[in-house]
Amino acid sequence: MKIFLRILAGLGILVALLIVYITLNGNKKFDAPYPNITASKDSAIIARGRYLAFGPMHCASCHTPMANMAEIDAGKEMPMLGGWEISIPPGTFRARNLTPDMETGIGKLSDKEIARTLRYGVGSDGRLIFPFMPFKDVSDDDLTALISFLRSQEPTKNEIAPSEYTFLGKFLMTIEALKPDGPAVTPPISVLRDSTAEYGKYLAYNVTNCRGCHTPRNIKTGEFTGPDFSGGFVIPPGKHSNDYAFVTPNLTTDVETGVMAEWSEQAFINRMRGGRVHKSSPMPWGSISRMDDSDLKAIYRYLHSLEPIKNKIDKIVFEPGEELPS
Ligand code: HEC
Ligand code: HEC
Repeated sequence: MKIFLRILAGLGILVALLIVYITLNGNKKFDAPYPNITASKDSAIIARGRYLAFGPMHCASCHTPMANMAEIDAGKEMPMLGGWEISIPPGTFRARNLTPDMETGIGKLSDKEIARTLRYGVGSDGRLIFPFMPFKDVSDDDLTALISFLRSQEPTKNEIAPSEYTFLGKFLMTIEALKPDGPAVTPPISVLRDSTAEYGKYLAYNVTNCRGCHTPRNIKTGEFTGPDFSGGFVIPPGKHSNDYAFVTPNLTTDVETGVMAEWSEQAFINRMRGGRVHKSSPMPWGSISRMDDSDLKAIYRYLHSLEPIKNKIDKIVFEPGEELPS
Protein backbone atom coordinates (compact mmCIF):
# COMPACT_ATOMS: atom_id res chain seq x y z
CA MET A 1 0.00 0.00 0.00
CA LYS A 2 2.81 2.41 0.95
CA ILE A 3 4.64 1.71 -2.32
CA PHE A 4 1.44 2.31 -4.24
CA LEU A 5 0.99 5.70 -2.53
CA ARG A 6 4.60 6.62 -3.32
CA ILE A 7 4.14 5.76 -6.99
CA LEU A 8 0.97 7.83 -7.00
CA ALA A 9 2.74 10.82 -5.41
CA GLY A 10 5.60 10.43 -7.90
CA LEU A 11 3.17 10.45 -10.80
CA GLY A 12 1.44 13.51 -9.34
CA ILE A 13 4.73 15.41 -9.26
CA LEU A 14 5.49 14.39 -12.84
CA VAL A 15 2.09 15.60 -14.04
CA ALA A 16 2.54 18.88 -12.14
CA LEU A 17 5.96 19.40 -13.73
CA LEU A 18 4.52 18.66 -17.17
CA ILE A 19 1.76 21.22 -16.62
CA VAL A 20 4.28 23.87 -15.53
CA TYR A 21 6.45 23.03 -18.55
CA ILE A 22 3.58 23.30 -21.02
CA THR A 23 2.27 26.51 -19.46
CA LEU A 24 5.68 28.18 -19.68
CA ASN A 25 6.46 26.79 -23.11
CA GLY A 26 3.06 27.86 -24.47
CA ASN A 27 4.34 31.40 -24.89
CA LYS A 28 6.87 30.03 -27.33
CA LYS A 29 8.43 32.43 -29.82
CA PHE A 30 8.97 31.41 -33.41
CA ASP A 31 11.18 32.77 -36.13
CA ALA A 32 10.69 33.11 -39.90
CA PRO A 33 12.28 35.19 -42.65
CA TYR A 34 10.94 38.63 -43.54
CA PRO A 35 9.58 38.73 -47.12
CA ASN A 36 11.06 41.50 -49.22
CA ILE A 37 7.84 43.52 -49.50
CA THR A 38 7.61 47.32 -49.46
CA ALA A 39 4.32 49.23 -49.65
CA SER A 40 3.81 51.55 -52.61
CA LYS A 41 1.95 54.88 -52.96
CA ASP A 42 0.96 54.16 -56.58
CA SER A 43 -2.82 54.61 -56.88
CA ALA A 44 -3.29 51.62 -59.24
CA ILE A 45 -1.45 49.35 -56.78
CA ILE A 46 -3.53 50.68 -53.85
CA ALA A 47 -6.74 50.09 -55.85
CA ARG A 48 -5.70 46.49 -56.52
CA GLY A 49 -5.02 46.07 -52.77
CA ARG A 50 -8.42 47.48 -51.88
CA TYR A 51 -10.10 44.99 -54.26
CA LEU A 52 -8.15 42.13 -52.65
CA ALA A 53 -8.88 43.23 -49.07
CA PHE A 54 -12.64 43.73 -49.53
CA GLY A 55 -13.00 41.05 -52.22
CA PRO A 56 -11.06 37.81 -52.81
CA MET A 57 -8.72 38.00 -49.78
CA HIS A 58 -11.73 38.93 -47.58
CA CYS A 59 -9.74 40.61 -44.79
CA ALA A 60 -12.88 42.70 -44.21
CA SER A 61 -14.97 39.61 -43.35
CA CYS A 62 -12.94 39.10 -40.17
CA HIS A 63 -11.26 42.41 -39.43
CA THR A 64 -14.52 44.40 -39.28
CA PRO A 65 -16.61 44.60 -36.08
CA MET A 66 -19.22 41.84 -36.05
CA ALA A 67 -21.90 44.56 -35.69
CA ASN A 68 -20.99 45.76 -39.21
CA MET A 69 -21.43 42.38 -40.93
CA ALA A 70 -24.76 43.33 -42.50
CA GLU A 71 -23.07 46.26 -44.30
CA ILE A 72 -20.13 44.04 -45.35
CA ASP A 73 -22.63 41.49 -46.68
CA ALA A 74 -24.35 44.22 -48.65
CA GLY A 75 -21.02 44.93 -50.36
CA LYS A 76 -20.14 48.13 -48.43
CA GLU A 77 -16.57 48.99 -47.47
CA MET A 78 -16.59 49.40 -43.70
CA PRO A 79 -13.43 50.44 -41.81
CA MET A 80 -11.35 47.42 -40.78
CA LEU A 81 -11.39 48.11 -37.05
CA GLY A 82 -11.06 44.45 -36.03
CA GLY A 83 -13.49 42.52 -33.87
CA TRP A 84 -14.24 39.05 -35.27
CA GLU A 85 -13.80 36.53 -32.48
CA ILE A 86 -13.74 32.74 -32.49
CA SER A 87 -13.35 30.33 -29.55
CA ILE A 88 -12.20 26.85 -30.50
CA PRO A 89 -10.49 24.17 -28.36
CA PRO A 90 -6.93 25.60 -28.81
CA GLY A 91 -7.92 29.16 -27.86
CA THR A 92 -9.88 32.34 -28.35
CA PHE A 93 -8.70 34.35 -31.32
CA ARG A 94 -9.52 37.96 -32.08
CA ALA A 95 -8.90 39.73 -35.37
CA ARG A 96 -7.08 43.00 -34.71
CA ASN A 97 -7.59 46.54 -35.94
CA LEU A 98 -5.99 46.78 -39.41
CA THR A 99 -6.12 50.56 -39.77
CA PRO A 100 -2.77 52.39 -39.44
CA ASP A 101 -3.55 53.69 -35.89
CA MET A 102 -0.29 53.77 -33.91
CA GLU A 103 -1.54 52.29 -30.63
CA THR A 104 -4.35 49.92 -31.54
CA GLY A 105 -3.80 49.23 -35.23
CA ILE A 106 -0.96 48.28 -37.56
CA GLY A 107 0.74 51.69 -37.43
CA LYS A 108 3.78 50.36 -35.62
CA LEU A 109 4.13 47.17 -37.68
CA SER A 110 6.53 47.36 -40.61
CA ASP A 111 5.53 46.22 -44.13
CA LYS A 112 7.80 43.23 -43.71
CA GLU A 113 6.25 42.27 -40.35
CA ILE A 114 2.75 42.28 -41.86
CA ALA A 115 4.04 40.34 -44.87
CA ARG A 116 5.68 37.79 -42.55
CA THR A 117 2.45 37.31 -40.57
CA LEU A 118 0.57 36.54 -43.76
CA ARG A 119 3.27 34.37 -45.33
CA TYR A 120 4.65 32.47 -42.33
CA GLY A 121 2.06 32.82 -39.54
CA VAL A 122 4.53 34.45 -37.16
CA GLY A 123 3.33 37.64 -35.43
CA SER A 124 5.40 40.79 -35.04
CA ASP A 125 6.22 39.65 -31.47
CA GLY A 126 7.23 36.16 -32.65
CA ARG A 127 4.08 34.42 -31.46
CA LEU A 128 2.30 31.79 -33.52
CA ILE A 129 -0.60 33.36 -35.39
CA PHE A 130 -3.32 30.73 -35.45
CA PRO A 131 -3.83 29.60 -39.09
CA PHE A 132 -7.03 31.47 -39.93
CA MET A 133 -5.28 33.42 -42.64
CA PRO A 134 -4.21 31.01 -45.36
CA PHE A 135 -2.37 33.51 -47.52
CA LYS A 136 1.12 32.02 -47.43
CA ASP A 137 1.25 31.38 -51.19
CA VAL A 138 -0.07 34.75 -52.36
CA SER A 139 2.25 36.40 -54.93
CA ASP A 140 4.68 39.15 -53.97
CA ASP A 141 2.77 41.61 -56.16
CA ASP A 142 -0.55 40.84 -54.46
CA LEU A 143 1.01 41.11 -50.96
CA THR A 144 2.56 44.43 -51.94
CA ALA A 145 -0.79 45.73 -53.24
CA LEU A 146 -2.60 44.57 -50.10
CA ILE A 147 -0.17 46.19 -47.67
CA SER A 148 -0.08 49.38 -49.78
CA PHE A 149 -3.85 49.57 -49.39
CA LEU A 150 -3.74 48.89 -45.61
CA ARG A 151 -1.32 51.81 -45.21
CA SER A 152 -3.62 54.14 -47.18
CA GLN A 153 -6.58 53.75 -44.77
CA GLU A 154 -7.69 56.34 -42.24
CA PRO A 155 -6.03 55.53 -38.87
CA THR A 156 -8.79 54.82 -36.33
CA LYS A 157 -8.48 53.92 -32.67
CA ASN A 158 -10.15 50.65 -31.64
CA GLU A 159 -8.59 48.44 -29.00
CA ILE A 160 -9.04 44.68 -29.52
CA ALA A 161 -8.16 42.34 -26.63
CA PRO A 162 -5.26 40.00 -27.50
CA SER A 163 -5.86 36.40 -28.56
CA GLU A 164 -5.38 33.69 -25.90
CA TYR A 165 -4.27 30.09 -26.22
CA THR A 166 -5.89 27.48 -23.94
CA PHE A 167 -3.94 24.77 -22.16
CA LEU A 168 -4.72 22.46 -25.10
CA GLY A 169 -3.38 25.08 -27.55
CA LYS A 170 -0.18 25.43 -25.50
CA PHE A 171 0.17 21.65 -25.30
CA LEU A 172 -0.21 21.34 -29.09
CA MET A 173 2.48 24.03 -29.54
CA THR A 174 4.80 22.25 -27.10
CA ILE A 175 4.62 19.00 -29.06
CA GLU A 176 4.74 21.04 -32.30
CA ALA A 177 1.44 19.71 -33.61
CA LEU A 178 0.72 23.42 -33.93
CA LYS A 179 3.49 25.48 -35.43
CA PRO A 180 3.92 28.22 -38.03
CA ASP A 181 3.58 27.01 -41.58
CA GLY A 182 5.36 28.81 -44.40
CA PRO A 183 5.12 28.23 -48.15
CA ALA A 184 6.34 24.82 -49.41
CA VAL A 185 7.80 26.41 -52.54
CA THR A 186 8.75 30.04 -53.13
CA PRO A 187 5.50 31.95 -53.90
CA PRO A 188 5.24 33.52 -57.35
CA ILE A 189 6.37 37.13 -57.80
CA SER A 190 3.43 37.85 -60.03
CA VAL A 191 0.47 35.82 -61.42
CA LEU A 192 -1.23 36.71 -64.70
CA ARG A 193 -4.88 37.66 -64.03
CA ASP A 194 -7.16 35.89 -66.44
CA SER A 195 -10.42 33.94 -66.45
CA THR A 196 -8.59 30.63 -66.90
CA ALA A 197 -8.74 27.52 -64.70
CA GLU A 198 -5.08 28.13 -63.91
CA TYR A 199 -5.79 31.54 -62.37
CA GLY A 200 -8.88 29.99 -60.71
CA LYS A 201 -6.62 27.49 -58.99
CA TYR A 202 -4.48 30.34 -57.66
CA LEU A 203 -7.64 32.01 -56.30
CA ALA A 204 -9.19 28.82 -54.84
CA TYR A 205 -5.98 27.73 -53.09
CA ASN A 206 -3.87 30.79 -52.41
CA VAL A 207 -6.17 33.78 -52.22
CA THR A 208 -9.84 33.11 -51.39
CA ASN A 209 -9.39 29.94 -49.33
CA CYS A 210 -12.23 27.96 -50.93
CA ARG A 211 -10.03 24.92 -50.32
CA GLY A 212 -9.40 25.73 -46.65
CA CYS A 213 -13.11 25.57 -45.81
CA HIS A 214 -14.40 23.09 -48.38
CA THR A 215 -11.96 20.27 -47.48
CA PRO A 216 -12.21 17.91 -44.47
CA ARG A 217 -9.88 19.06 -41.65
CA ASN A 218 -8.93 18.49 -38.07
CA ILE A 219 -10.27 21.56 -36.23
CA LYS A 220 -7.65 21.25 -33.47
CA THR A 221 -4.59 21.41 -35.72
CA GLY A 222 -5.98 22.63 -39.04
CA GLU A 223 -4.54 19.54 -40.76
CA PHE A 224 -6.25 18.45 -44.03
CA THR A 225 -7.74 14.97 -43.68
CA GLY A 226 -9.46 14.27 -47.02
CA PRO A 227 -9.55 15.15 -50.74
CA ASP A 228 -9.48 18.85 -51.65
CA PHE A 229 -12.88 20.53 -52.19
CA SER A 230 -14.80 17.39 -51.15
CA GLY A 231 -16.53 19.26 -48.26
CA GLY A 232 -17.29 17.96 -44.78
CA PHE A 233 -15.21 20.42 -42.74
CA VAL A 234 -17.09 20.93 -39.45
CA ILE A 235 -16.99 24.61 -38.43
CA PRO A 236 -17.92 24.73 -34.73
CA PRO A 237 -20.42 27.21 -33.27
CA GLY A 238 -19.30 30.47 -31.66
CA LYS A 239 -19.82 34.20 -31.35
CA HIS A 240 -18.82 34.63 -35.00
CA SER A 241 -21.80 32.50 -36.10
CA ASN A 242 -24.43 33.31 -33.43
CA ASP A 243 -23.80 29.79 -32.09
CA TYR A 244 -24.82 28.04 -35.29
CA ALA A 245 -22.41 25.37 -36.59
CA PHE A 246 -21.83 24.46 -40.23
CA VAL A 247 -20.53 21.58 -42.31
CA THR A 248 -19.18 22.66 -45.70
CA PRO A 249 -20.67 21.31 -48.95
CA ASN A 250 -18.76 19.24 -51.52
CA LEU A 251 -17.64 21.45 -54.46
CA THR A 252 -16.33 18.71 -56.75
CA THR A 253 -18.02 17.56 -59.97
CA ASP A 254 -19.68 14.48 -58.46
CA VAL A 255 -23.26 14.86 -59.70
CA GLU A 256 -24.82 13.03 -56.76
CA THR A 257 -23.06 14.73 -53.87
CA GLY A 258 -21.40 17.89 -55.29
CA VAL A 259 -23.59 21.00 -54.84
CA MET A 260 -22.34 22.82 -57.93
CA ALA A 261 -21.66 19.86 -60.24
CA GLU A 262 -24.67 20.68 -62.40
CA TRP A 263 -24.47 24.48 -62.23
CA SER A 264 -23.63 26.46 -65.38
CA GLU A 265 -20.92 29.10 -65.20
CA GLN A 266 -23.57 31.82 -65.11
CA ALA A 267 -25.53 30.03 -62.36
CA PHE A 268 -22.34 29.89 -60.29
CA ILE A 269 -21.63 33.61 -60.81
CA ASN A 270 -25.23 34.44 -59.86
CA ARG A 271 -25.02 32.31 -56.71
CA MET A 272 -21.70 33.87 -55.63
CA ARG A 273 -23.23 37.34 -56.14
CA GLY A 274 -26.48 36.31 -54.48
CA GLY A 275 -24.97 36.43 -51.01
CA ARG A 276 -25.83 34.79 -47.75
CA VAL A 277 -28.82 32.46 -47.47
CA HIS A 278 -27.97 30.92 -44.07
CA LYS A 279 -27.81 33.95 -41.81
CA SER A 280 -24.77 33.03 -39.72
CA SER A 281 -22.74 31.14 -42.30
CA PRO A 282 -18.99 31.68 -41.90
CA MET A 283 -18.51 31.78 -45.67
CA PRO A 284 -17.39 35.35 -46.50
CA TRP A 285 -20.36 35.96 -48.82
CA GLY A 286 -20.07 39.75 -48.69
CA SER A 287 -16.46 39.69 -49.85
CA ILE A 288 -16.99 36.99 -52.47
CA SER A 289 -19.94 38.90 -53.94
CA ARG A 290 -17.49 41.74 -54.69
CA MET A 291 -15.33 39.54 -56.92
CA ASP A 292 -15.41 40.49 -60.61
CA ASP A 293 -16.74 38.23 -63.40
CA SER A 294 -13.29 37.27 -64.58
CA ASP A 295 -12.23 36.02 -61.12
CA LEU A 296 -15.49 34.10 -60.59
CA LYS A 297 -15.29 32.50 -64.05
CA ALA A 298 -11.73 31.42 -63.30
CA ILE A 299 -12.81 29.73 -60.04
CA TYR A 300 -15.73 27.98 -61.76
CA ARG A 301 -13.48 26.73 -64.57
CA TYR A 302 -10.98 25.41 -62.08
CA LEU A 303 -13.56 23.64 -59.86
CA HIS A 304 -15.18 22.13 -62.94
CA SER A 305 -11.83 20.74 -64.08
CA LEU A 306 -11.58 18.61 -60.90
CA GLU A 307 -12.19 14.87 -60.57
CA PRO A 308 -15.58 14.01 -59.06
CA ILE A 309 -15.33 12.92 -55.42
CA LYS A 310 -18.28 11.22 -53.80
CA ASN A 311 -18.78 12.66 -50.34
CA LYS A 312 -22.34 13.04 -49.21
CA ILE A 313 -22.88 15.86 -46.73
CA ASP A 314 -26.14 15.08 -45.00
CA LYS A 315 -26.66 18.34 -43.21
CA ILE A 316 -25.08 21.79 -43.59
CA VAL A 317 -26.58 23.95 -40.84
CA PHE A 318 -26.73 23.02 -37.13
CA GLU A 319 -28.87 24.95 -34.63
CA PRO A 320 -27.24 26.20 -31.41
CA GLY A 321 -26.71 23.21 -29.09
CA GLU A 322 -27.43 20.59 -31.77
CA GLU A 323 -25.06 17.60 -31.81
CA LEU A 324 -22.36 17.80 -34.51
CA PRO A 325 -21.03 15.00 -36.73
CA SER A 326 -17.59 13.89 -35.47
C1 HEC B 1 -10.99 34.09 -41.11
C2 HEC B 1 -10.76 35.34 -40.45
C3 HEC B 1 -9.60 36.21 -40.90
C4 HEC B 1 -9.32 36.67 -42.17
C5 HEC B 1 -10.04 36.36 -43.46
C6 HEC B 1 -8.18 37.55 -42.03
N1 HEC B 1 -7.78 37.61 -40.72
FE1 HEC B 1 -6.14 38.61 -40.00
N2 HEC B 1 -6.47 37.81 -38.16
C7 HEC B 1 -7.52 36.99 -37.81
C8 HEC B 1 -7.38 36.57 -36.43
C9 HEC B 1 -8.35 35.68 -35.66
C10 HEC B 1 -6.17 37.15 -35.96
C11 HEC B 1 -5.54 36.95 -34.60
C12 HEC B 1 -4.74 35.66 -34.67
C13 HEC B 1 -3.90 35.36 -33.47
O1 HEC B 1 -3.80 36.25 -32.62
O2 HEC B 1 -3.33 34.24 -33.39
C14 HEC B 1 -5.64 37.94 -37.07
C15 HEC B 1 -4.47 38.68 -37.01
C16 HEC B 1 -3.97 39.49 -38.02
C17 HEC B 1 -2.80 40.33 -37.92
C18 HEC B 1 -1.99 40.52 -36.65
C19 HEC B 1 -0.59 40.06 -36.62
C20 HEC B 1 0.08 40.43 -35.32
O3 HEC B 1 1.29 40.58 -35.34
O4 HEC B 1 -0.60 40.54 -34.28
C21 HEC B 1 -2.66 40.97 -39.12
C22 HEC B 1 -1.59 41.98 -39.53
C23 HEC B 1 -3.73 40.50 -39.98
N3 HEC B 1 -4.52 39.60 -39.28
C24 HEC B 1 -3.95 40.91 -41.28
C25 HEC B 1 -4.92 40.37 -42.13
C26 HEC B 1 -5.05 40.73 -43.53
C27 HEC B 1 -4.22 41.77 -44.25
C28 HEC B 1 -6.07 39.97 -44.05
C29 HEC B 1 -6.56 39.87 -45.46
C30 HEC B 1 -5.55 39.48 -46.43
C31 HEC B 1 -6.57 39.15 -42.96
N4 HEC B 1 -5.86 39.44 -41.83
C32 HEC B 1 -7.61 38.24 -43.09
C33 HEC B 1 -8.57 36.60 -38.63
C34 HEC B 1 -8.62 36.80 -40.00
C1 HEC C 1 -14.78 30.42 -44.09
C2 HEC C 1 -15.21 29.22 -44.76
C3 HEC C 1 -15.59 29.28 -46.22
C4 HEC C 1 -14.88 29.81 -47.27
C5 HEC C 1 -13.57 30.58 -47.24
C6 HEC C 1 -15.63 29.49 -48.46
N1 HEC C 1 -16.76 28.81 -48.14
FE1 HEC C 1 -18.18 28.18 -49.43
N2 HEC C 1 -19.37 27.62 -47.87
C7 HEC C 1 -18.98 27.59 -46.55
C8 HEC C 1 -20.10 27.12 -45.75
C9 HEC C 1 -20.08 26.96 -44.23
C10 HEC C 1 -21.16 26.86 -46.62
C11 HEC C 1 -22.56 26.33 -46.27
C12 HEC C 1 -23.44 27.45 -45.75
C13 HEC C 1 -23.77 28.47 -46.79
O1 HEC C 1 -24.27 28.10 -47.88
O2 HEC C 1 -23.50 29.66 -46.54
C14 HEC C 1 -20.67 27.17 -47.97
C15 HEC C 1 -21.42 27.05 -49.13
C16 HEC C 1 -20.90 27.14 -50.42
C17 HEC C 1 -21.61 26.82 -51.64
C18 HEC C 1 -23.05 26.32 -51.72
C19 HEC C 1 -24.02 27.44 -51.81
C20 HEC C 1 -25.43 26.96 -52.06
O3 HEC C 1 -26.28 27.83 -52.24
O4 HEC C 1 -25.68 25.76 -52.05
C21 HEC C 1 -20.75 27.05 -52.67
C22 HEC C 1 -21.04 26.82 -54.16
C23 HEC C 1 -19.52 27.53 -52.12
N3 HEC C 1 -19.64 27.57 -50.74
C24 HEC C 1 -18.41 27.86 -52.85
C25 HEC C 1 -17.28 28.49 -52.31
C26 HEC C 1 -16.21 29.06 -53.11
C27 HEC C 1 -16.15 28.98 -54.63
C28 HEC C 1 -15.31 29.61 -52.25
C29 HEC C 1 -14.06 30.39 -52.58
C30 HEC C 1 -14.26 31.49 -53.51
C31 HEC C 1 -15.84 29.40 -50.91
N4 HEC C 1 -17.01 28.72 -50.99
C32 HEC C 1 -15.20 29.83 -49.75
C33 HEC C 1 -17.76 28.00 -46.04
C34 HEC C 1 -16.77 28.64 -46.78
